[in-house]
Amino acid sequence: MTGKLIHSQVIFSTKFLIHIVSLFLLCDLYYQAVNDRLGADPVEVVLHFTGIGAFNLLLLSLTISPLAQYFKLPLLLKFRRLIGLYSFVYVLCHLLSFLAFEVQFDWHLFINEVIERPYITIGMLAILIMFSLAITSIPLIKREMGRNWQKLHNSVYLASLLVGLHFYWSVKSEIIEPSMYIGISLTLLYCRKKKIIRWFK
Ligand code: HEM
Repeated sequence: MTGKLIHSQVIFSTKFLIHIVSLFLLCDLYYQAVNDRLGADPVEVVLHFTGIGAFNLLLLSLTISPLAQYFKLPLLLKFRRLIGLYSFVYVLCHLLSFLAFEVQFDWHLFINEVIERPYITIGMLAILIMFSLAITSIPLIKREMGRNWQKLHNSVYLASLLVGLHFYWSVKSEIIEPSMYIGISLTLLYCRKKKIIRWFK
């Protein structure tokens, strides 16, 4: 009984901490932006912070399964969904910041950007995948989808590769950081090689 209580308290406190840290960092970013404390190019800082934040959280959510398996810590799996959802919250802020500060909610301009700039096209594809994953992580929808849920959620690996490409393509010269991120995405895919080979059989 006490063991169970400690177990649920650890889950509750860790989830609470994830909420606090993720929301605090986002609120602090926009607070600094509103108070003109982000330097000469605040839009670039906001896009960078929300983009990298979303990618980090996406990769963290993909790291949880191999870590839980390797260290035999199934408890870690309890945090995967929440971290994945925060990755989506960060990417929504990334997209909204782009819409507000780069194209000023001019939808024609936005559609042109999506069509004409390949790195935006790829970012759009990734965000659509992440949107479908976030919506279908609602327990009721998950139950309704049955086996199709897992099939759809396997597309998270495709999303991580698309985001890596989006990052690589968005930078002008400093390719080391995006290349490292693509390397991490490929390593995480490699950790699931047996599962991936099974899909193609
Ligand atoms: C329609 C969808 C998207 C749009 C319009 C968009 C827009 C942008 C823009 C304008 C930049 C800055 C490029 C520059 O510095 O010149 C950028 C960078 C970036 N985006 Fe996105 N993005 C989208 C989707 C995503 C998604 C889904 C993710 C991650 C989950 C993401 C992560 C990143 C990252 C990591 C960077 C590089 C940040 C940096 O070093 O400055 N983006 N994006």
